[in-house]
Amino acid sequence: MGMDVLVIGSGGREHALCWKLAASPLLGNLYCTPGNGGISEEAQCIDMDIADHAAIIDFCQDRKIDLVVVGPEAPLVAGLVDDLQAAGIRAFGPDAAAARLEGSKGFTKDLCARHNIPTGAYGRFTDAAAARAYVAEKGAPIVVKADGLAAGKGVTVAMTEAQAIAAIDDAFGGRFGAAGAEVVVEEFLEGEEASFFVLTDGVNALPLATAQDHKAVGEGDTGPNTGGMGAYSPAPVMTDAMIARTMDEIIRPTIAGMAADGCPFRGVLFAGLMITETGPQLIEYNIRFGDPECQALMVRLKSDLMAALIATMDGVLDRFDLRWDSDAALTVVMAADGYPGAVQKGSAIGGLFDAGLVDGVTIFHAGTREDGMTVRANGGRVLGITALGKTVREAQGRAYDAVDRLEWPEGFCRRDIGWRAIAREDASD
Ligand code: AMP
Ligand code: GLY
Repeated sequence: MGMDVLVIGSGGREHALCWKLAASPLLGNLYCTPGNGGISEEAQCIDMDIADHAAIIDFCQDRKIDLVVVGPEAPLVAGLVDDLQAAGIRAFGPDAAAARLEGSKGFTKDLCARHNIPTGAYGRFTDAAAARAYVAEKGAPIVVKADGLAAGKGVTVAMTEAQAIAAIDDAFGGRFGAAGAEVVVEEFLEGEEASFFVLTDGVNALPLATAQDHKAVGEGDTGPNTGGMGAYSPAPVMTDAMIARTMDEIIRPTIAGMAADGCPFRGVLFAGLMITETGPQLIEYNIRFGDPECQALMVRLKSDLMAALIATMDGVLDRFDLRWDSDAALTVVMAADGYPGAVQKGSAIGGLFDAGLVDGVTIFHAGTREDGMTVRANGGRVLGITALGKTVREAQGRAYDAVDRLEWPEGFCRRDIGWRAIAREDASD
């Protein structure tokens, strides 16, 4: 008899997690709430409001769920893991106190300052006048961030002081609601970005894989920021030496600092890094797998994800290891026209079966819903076309072959996902 698991969330990340958990010999029944049109292939989707902790607890008690895996940041910051644990239900992910690493940018910056963790110089502000004065003192380029969760939209990289002032006025004007009642103004860092993931049980840290996201909506990294338009893993900029420095200078001091402060972090810690001329600098922490990075990671993970989640909760990561496919993985996000702005829901997506037949390709759903035999778009980011290949170029070719088999005129994707890694591959040929 295997373990019965409930996954919380409805994105491409949760589809990839369900897909990987479904392959575990330790699994009994798999449920997901609310799920999406693709997750229903792997798990029984349950229609619940994930903000309704009491309903989730009732469901878990009724079905005797052995483990809850929380995918997105909002329920973690809202204390879903605390509430589940208080009800005697095992849950994977940080509690609310540890989730402040993503829930408050100011909290994380102060932690970095106390523990000498490399990150941009900053100020925290609760009124516009003081924030404006800081910008005037430091000059541009400079970065303005809403303190709280803003679905990836709370950051302005201001190339001029006027842009920075406008961003400050926007935040204090209520654009991000309570998340913008405090603002962090931060030094602009130059370099190449990378996403770095570890599992941590509060004491030990097990590095997972590296990845690179593509945040801007347009080719050549132009246009507004999104949740992420594509990713690949591994990220070549994260050499073994850079990973070792990141562990020593950023990850381990964070884990030790959180434990010393009485809020040990257990779960997936995701460091958004800027690899600068002087080494890795922390841009931000996320307290969960990245989306779409998770999709690229899960197809490369050879070991059992469930065993890794259990080892994390049991506090035995010092005696645990994971195996990864040495191939590269690349995910192209298909989004509905208009994303990251307003989108139309309901258009039919054809060609999914054919697209899934391309060698090395797995298709993860995000904003989709099943409507009889038809899959319909139901959100901004809709599909994550994921491919393995010997090189990033090969993975990219396979992913776009699959994209070209889709019949979905109302959708679009970036055509240059992986360009930095491919330029490196070409240079070393
Ligand atoms: P965040 O939501 O904090 O990851 O920020 C979104 C994006 O803004 C990052 O992925 C970076 O591209 C950019 N960004 C954030 N902080 C900085 C910084 N201090 N210097 C340069 N770019 C930044
Ligand atoms: N892809 C970046 C994130 O999940 O925040």
